[in-house]
Amino acid sequence: TMRGAIFDLDGVIVDTAKYHYLAWAKLADELGFAFTEEHNERLKGVSRMRSLDILLEVGGQDFSEEDKLVMADKKNKLYVEYISTLNESELLPGVKDYLIGLRARGVGIALGSASKNAMFILDKLNIAELFDSIVDGNKVSRAKPDPEVFLIACAELALQPVDCVVFEDAEAGVQAAKAAGMQVVGIGRPEILKDADLVVAGLHVLEGLDRLN
Ligand code: G6P
Ligand code: MG
Repeated sequence: TMRGAIFDLDGVIVDTAKYHYLAWAKLADELGFAFTEEHNERLKGVSRMRSLDILLEVGGQDFSEEDKLVMADKKNKLYVEYISTLNESELLPGVKDYLIGLRARGVGIALGSASKNAMFILDKLNIAELFDSIVDGNKVSRAKPDPEVFLIACAELALQPVDCVVFEDAEAGVQAAKAAGMQVVGIGRPEILKDADLVVAGLHVLEGLDRLN
């Protein structure tokens, strides 16, 4: 049985994935190449600097580390601008009810996100207090698919990996959860999340099932 639930943020709790994409696509556009939604799948769950490397690889371009830091900073400023008006209405369907239901059952709840903007987003969405532990991009040194982020979250919940279930929308995140020895529920499309133990369209599906019990 699940004693701990670890949630990715972007694409699982809130649809910020589209704002990440818009900001990256704008950067690519300025560099003179197109960055498609298909390319963007590779950036999901991946750290900011690694995302930039993948984007530049797609565009066949290379820059110094210094230039890359400037570019990543520019992307982030744009992204933060896009999410500055984020509010509770942008929580994905079923999220809040599902978290509240888990709490009522005594399941430990953690965030396991690569984003350095996670706290800012949780505050905007007014749900930070629903988490027992928050592990974000500021606390981790190795990006997904490395299991570090989920192992820290699990330890903060004082649980073992076998007791934890991860909720992820990204391929890199599913790999990270598997590498951590955890069960993983994919949120999104089964053809992309092939290695997940179960794939659902969103947490509203699980929340609906819980209500039937
Ligand atoms: C999440 C998103 C990625 C993003 C990463 C870093 O994993 O899925 O698209 O690049 O966080 O986010 P940040 O807000 O720190 O740039
Ligand atoms: Mg995600």
